[in-house]
Amino acid sequence: MTHSNPQNGDALGVGTRLAHTARDPRAQHGFVNTPLHRGSTVVFRTLDELEGAMRADTRTGPYIYGLMGNPNSRELETMLARLDGGAGAVVVESGLAAVSVPLLAMLSSGDHLLMTDSCYGPSRHICNVVLARMGITTSYYDPRIGAGIDALIRPNTRVIFMESPGSLTFEVQDVPAIARVARARGVTTMIDATWATPLYFRAIEHGCDIAIHALTKYQSGNSDILLGGIVARDEDHWKRVKHTAEAHGHYAHPDDCSTCLRGIRSLEVRLAWHQASALEVARWLESRAEVARMLHPALPSHPDHAIWKRDFTGASGLFGCVLKPHPRGRAHLKAFLEGLRFFGMGFSWGGFESLVVSSDVRSSRVAAPWTDEGALLRFQIGLEDPRDLIADIAQAFDAAARA
Ligand SMILES: Cc1ncc(COP(=O)(O)O)c(C=O)c1O
Repeated sequence: MTHSNPQNGDALGVGTRLAHTARDPRAQHGFVNTPLHRGSTVVFRTLDELEGAMRADTRTGPYIYGLMGNPNSRELETMLARLDGGAGAVVVESGLAAVSVPLLAMLSSGDHLLMTDSCYGPSRHICNVVLARMGITTSYYDPRIGAGIDALIRPNTRVIFMESPGSLTFEVQDVPAIARVARARGVTTMIDATWATPLYFRAIEHGCDIAIHALTKYQSGNSDILLGGIVARDEDHWKRVKHTAEAHGHYAHPDDCSTCLRGIRSLEVRLAWHQASALEVARWLESRAEVARMLHPALPSHPDHAIWKRDFTGASGLFGCVLKPHPRGRAHLKAFLEGLRFFGMGFSWGGFESLVVSSDVRSSRVAAPWTDEGALLRFQIGLEDPRDLIADIAQAFDAAARA
C-alpha cells in the first residue's frame, strides 16, 4: 500500500503519521497529493488479470470497479485503519451509514441488540424502525451501566453498541468494562467514537471490535462534506462490514475521500485548538448564573470525569450545558439563541465555525431518564478566538434577560 514511510508508523508521533501515511508522491509524478480518480469501470487486458483482480484483497490488490474502491478511498481507509490500529477500514457516504452498515453486517432476524440510551437520535431511529422491521429487537441500556451490562445480555444478543461520550448528553461510558464482558460472552462491540476521533480515544485498544466515525465532523473539518468511516479490529469483522457495504451499494465519492484526507492531515493541530477553546468557554459558562450544570467530560465537575481521564487523551470542541429553568421558557431561549452572533444554529459539528443547538431528549430516553427541566444546549466551539465567543455568549445572555 502507498505509505511514504516504510517504518513502523506507530512508533512515530501522530503529526508525522498524519502527514506521511497513505500517500506516495513518487507514484504521482512527484506531486504531494494523490489526484482524484473518478470512475466506475476499470478495464483489464487479459482474462487472467480480470479473474485475479476479482479474487484479490480490496485493501491492497488491483482495483476492480469503482464501487469496491479507488485510489482515493483506499488511501483514506488506510489512514483510518492505521489511526485506530485495526485490520481494515471501510468508508461510506455519511456518518449515519457508518452506523447502519456494521449493524446490518452483524445482525440477523431474531437477534437482539443492546444500544446505549445516550445514542445519536438517527441511530435510535435505525433500531426502532429499520432493525425492528427486520425482526431484530433492541434494548436500551443506561450509558453508565459499565460491567452491569452482563445482566442484560440474552442468549440471542449479538451486538452491544456504545457512543462515548453521548453526543447530546455527554455521558462517558466505561468502554473497557463493557468490552470485557462482551468478549467473555461472545458479543460484538461497536462504538460511535466520533467525538474524540482516534487521536483522543483508541476504541480498538480499549477493547471494541468496530469503531465508527462520522468523518463529516473533525476529520474533514470544514462542514463541506458528509462521510463515514468504519474500522474493524480483525479480519472477520472487516470482511463482514466490507461485504455488507458492497452488497448494499454503499460508496464514498473520491472527491469526498480526498477532501477528508486533506482535513485529516491537519487534525492534530485543529483538535488541540478546539480542545483549548472549548475548555475556556466551558469554564466561563460554568461560572455563569444562567447555567444549572455543565456537560463537559474534561471538567472535574462532570460525573464521569475520572473515566474520561483514565481512557481519553484529550477532549474535542463539543460539549453541552443545561440552563436553569427560566420563567419565560422558550421565549427566553429563543432570544438567547437568536442573539448569538458567532454561533450558527444548526446540526453537525467539527467544522471551523462555532455552532449551538438546543434539544429535548426527555421523550426519547427509556433506560436512563433525562429529568432536567432547563434547556439542554450543545455548543460546538470552532476555531474563532475564544474571547470573542465568550463575549458573544455574554451579550446574548444579557439581551435575552432584557427581551
Ligand atoms: C455522534 C454522531 N454520529 C453519527 C453522526 C452522523 O453523521 P453524518 O451527519 O455524517 O451522517 C452524527 C451527526 O451529527 C453524530 O453526531
